This record gives sequence, structure tokens and C-alpha cells, in this order.
Amino acid sequence: GLKKKEVNVLCLGLDNSGKTTIINQLKPSNAQTQDIVPTIGFSIEKFKTSSLSFTVFDMSGQGRYRNLWEHYYKEGQAIIFVIDSGDKLRMVVAKEELDTLLNHPDIKHRRIPILFFANKMDLRDALSSVKVSQLLCLENIKDKPWHICASDALKGEGLQEGNKFSSCLAL
Ligand code: GTP
Ligand code: MG
Repeated sequence: GLKKKEVNVLCLGLDNSGKTTIINQLKPSNAQTQDIVPTIGFSIEKFKTSSLSFTVFDMSGQGRYRNLWEHYYKEGQAIIFVIDSGDKLRMVVAKEELDTLLNHPDIKHRRIPILFFANKMDLRDALSSVKVSQLLCLENIKDKPWHICASDALKGEGLQEGNKFSSCLAL
């Protein structure tokens, strides 16, 4: 049959933001796991949709592992950046990491699409995706297609909207 188009996706964001939980929800149900633990280093997940073959680099967001991210920027064809909408204290840290990412030579001059998840929208004091977008100054990203969705990765809510974004990019 036809070979599926291969896409490398980088999943980035601070520790505890919900990256692994989101990726788990994107997998087919028979491949999903129940117990999710903090990622050590990174983990590579592969799955297929009807037309695409995805390789997701699920990076650890812990400070001591964040220096690993940049080694995968060259191979990345799309970025998922996850924010914990309830973690107001670390919103500035998330912004710093995002700015470092956007200014990296392997990212800066590429039209690489970025999908933001303002995750944990179920938390009572969660910031809205509009507010997260403002705090991260996303409107300043002018040379890359991007989109932000509010999500609840525990229930799997808001993740489908992200799918629409990926398909409209014809990845
Ligand atoms: P690192 O691997 O350490 O970088 O973290 P991570 O970004 O992969 O986070 P992970 O998916 O391990 O989730 C961290 C914690 O947040 C877990 O206890 C999840 O159950 C919880 N969590 C993830 N998504 C949500 C969400 O949408 N709402 C709530 N309330 N909790 C969530
Ligand atoms: Mg993880």
C-alpha cells in the first residue's frame, strides 16, 4: 500500500504540564496506559492515523532535562507546547522556555507550526486560553502558524480541536 507520510512532533513544556497525559490521549485506546509518571529524559511514541505516521518526542519538562530539547529541534516538523493553566507562579518560566525555543537557530527561521495546549482547564482557578496567550505574548509569533486550545487531558477534552489544526496544516 501507500507509504504514510512521516511527521516528527516535539512535545515541549514545563514538567507537570500534562505532555505525557495528552500524548497518551492521542494514542489509539488499545495503546493507552493508565499510570503516567514524570518523564525521565524523553520518550519516543509512535502511532499512525489513516494518512500519517507520527513520531512524537515526549520530552521531560524538568529543569535538569530541558537542555535535551534543542537536540531534537532540527528533526521536529511540528511542536506541541503544553502549559499548565493552573500554574500561575510558573507562567513566567514557561514564557522564558518558549522564548528560548523561539530564538533557537534551529527554530527561529523556520515556519514550523506550534500547537499550544492551555491544559488543566478543569482546575477551578485555571487561566483561560486567552489569558495564557496574553501572558506568553503569543501574538508576537508572526512567522509561524500557531493555535492555542484549552484542554483537559484527563478527560481528553479540547484535544480534538488540536487535530483540526494539524489537518488544516496538511501535515
Ligand atoms: P514531565 O514528564 O515531568 O515533563 O510532565 P508532563 O508534562 O509529561 O506531565 P504529566 O502528563 O506527567 O502530568 C502531570 C500531572 O498532571 C499528572 O498527575 C496528570 O494526571 C496531571 N494532569 C495532566 N493533565 C491534566 C488536566 O488536564 N487536568 C488535571 N487536573 N490534571 C492533569
Ligand atoms: Mg511527561
